[in-house]
Amino acid sequence: MSRISLVVDGNPYVAEVTDSTMLLDVLRDQTGTTGVREGCGVGACGACTVLVDGMSVSSCLTLAERYDGARITTAAGLPRDDEVVASFVECGAMQCGYCIPGFVMMAHELLAENPAPKEEDVVNHLEGNICRCGTYAEIRRAVLAAARKRAAR
Ligand code: FES
Ligand code: FES
Repeated sequence: MSRISLVVDGNPYVAEVTDSTMLLDVLRDQTGTTGVREGCGVGACGACTVLVDGMSVSSCLTLAERYDGARITTAAGLPRDDEVVASFVECGAMQCGYCIPGFVMMAHELLAENPAPKEEDVVNHLEGNICRCGTYAEIRRAVLAAARKRAAR
């Protein structure tokens, strides 16, 4: 067992990990960040996506030890007036909502890289995320709407 330090959504934590502890388990069990979801647990659905220094990471596939000292952003740490979240709500881009935090973080990564994506760019960037409710059309609309809102800001 060893200790690592993390900053999650702006708050510092010290976590106890072994060399096989996954980042997802640290986030959910040791920092209480339960908005990070476990879907498949094997890197195939995107539900567990967080951003580390702006880059998306599947936390279910990631050894926590590698992220000692990292700054991690989850959907729970986004500001209240976040355009992406607001657009998801306005576009009805959720049913059960289980997959949505992962989609929101992927949308943030995309818009940071490409502030004016075309629909095809959104489809390509989100292709690793699965929504079992099938809300894909609304999710795509929400990401494009968020891009327009940012551009108009
Ligand atoms: S839970 Fe991590 S990719 Fe599915
Ligand atoms: S909204 Fe239910 S899994 Fe996506």
